[in-house]
Amino acid sequence: MAHFPENDGRTAWRASVLTLFPEMFPGPLGVSLVGQALAAGLWRLTTHQIRDFGIGRHRAVDDTPAGGGAGMVLRADVVANAVDHARREPGAADLPLIYLSPRGEPLSQALSRELAAGPGVMLLAGRFEGVDERVIEGRSMREVSIGDYVLSGGELAAMVLIDAAVRLLPGVLGAEESLTHESFEGGLLEYPQYTRPREWEGLTIPDVLLSGDHKRIDAWRRAEAERLTRERRPDLKRRS
Ligand code: ADE
Repeated sequence: MAHFPENDGRTAWRASVLTLFPEMFPGPLGVSLVGQALAAGLWRLTTHQIRDFGIGRHRAVDDTPAGGGAGMVLRADVVANAVDHARREPGAADLPLIYLSPRGEPLSQALSRELAAGPGVMLLAGRFEGVDERVIEGRSMREVSIGDYVLSGGELAAMVLIDAAVRLLPGVLGAEESLTHESFEGGLLEYPQYTRPREWEGLTIPDVLLSGDHKRIDAWRRAEAERLTRERRPDLKRRS
């Protein structure tokens, strides 16, 4: 079990990850805002090597699919032992257990908010063709997908989920990185942004943004957010 970094482990939001590649962590979660928050103890990351629970001298974690077919399937007994061990870590007993899989419910801003509001997450990152269905059922795992494409393993998906949740934790984003206007808040994509210089390669900043008239600026931004959402993501549901 690896900890990044040591902290009191009682109060902070926690991510406990079960993986065959713990060396992938913290990886990108160790830098920038989310990495600074990790170093500051605003959240806590633990990894568990699934192979430690493997069978026999070779620590086997997978086997061929029942019924035949390509690839290998993670064994239910091995995964269950890893989960049960991870659950005994202080503060981990009540974490929602999520298996990252392309079959899962789509990760959304709403789900990220729901997970950020809780005590943390326990994440199972699979490899191979999947995980024996019985352990998904037997340990009441929730399945979450980060999109309609197939990754070579669940680790990157776990990192995406953790990043999306951690940046919503109190104290992680500074005031200047406000959440209120970003994409998906209110069910809209974010309006276009500009900064200096005022003219670049013959392209100018829309006059309204330089007008100092905050009512007009807000109205322009709202209209642009609605236009972009209509053009690019008509499937997004409007909220508020
Ligand atoms: N594992 C492999 N592909 C995935 C995806 N799209 N989402 C979540 N976990 C995955």
